[in-house]
Amino acid sequence: MEVFYFHVAADVPNDQPSSTAVVIDVLRATTTIACALKNGAAAIQTFADVEQLWQEASNWPESSRILIGERGGKRIDGFDLGNSPNDVQPDLVKGKRIFMSTTNGTRSLERVKDFETLYTLALVNRSFVADRLLADMPKSVCILGSGWEGSYSLEDSLAAGALVSYLLESGSRDVHIANDELQAALALWSIWRENPLGCLMESTHGKRLQRIGNHHEDFACCSNLDSINVIPFQSEPGVLSST
Ligand code: MLT
Repeated sequence: MEVFYFHVAADVPNDQPSSTAVVIDVLRATTTIACALKNGAAAIQTFADVEQLWQEASNWPESSRILIGERGGKRIDGFDLGNSPNDVQPDLVKGKRIFMSTTNGTRSLERVKDFETLYTLALVNRSFVADRLLADMPKSVCILGSGWEGSYSLEDSLAAGALVSYLLESGSRDVHIANDELQAALALWSIWRENPLGCLMESTHGKRLQRIGNHHEDFACCSNLDSINVIPFQSEPGVLSST
């Protein structure tokens, strides 16, 4: 398995050979996706564009849908919830279809939605997605971070490093680091592996979230490595479900 890592959607080459993609947005979209599916959400339909989301969501009865998302870290006007993983509690999401749009995470999902297989990963479900990849053993995997408005983010690289570290430590001889971005992510993980929370707090987006409110519970949740046994996968274009 050749494993590539790209920091943001625009970095993925058009001739990328992988048929499997893994999208990461640790702060906070892919953490929220894992929590919502663990808490019983029926499925999560993601949109880069808010207008499109409203159009699709209007086809669903209000009682069986919930709208979540943020711009700049703050809840979108008219939406039920922002993008906090702590907000998607069972009493709100169980059995519901979630319509979700975020600043960066849903754009990354859009970029790779035509891949044959698509998983989402955060620190919380790292080992479970990694075990699935080891079982699938695709020829090549494209890990895609979300960054912030087109630029690098520390926390997504941390999770890419955590993922490849787990794959390599599985003892499989078939796992190969395919680009320098992933090599650097692995080095980053070796620095912060005992303190992922510290890394999230130091990151630019971590500081942005701290500036706009009290997100201590979000940081605790987002840094809780291997705590949620959920493997979100794309069950139809733009729709995530869990196995
Ligand atoms: C994003 O997609 O940019 C993030 O998930 C932002 C956030 O809610 O922290």
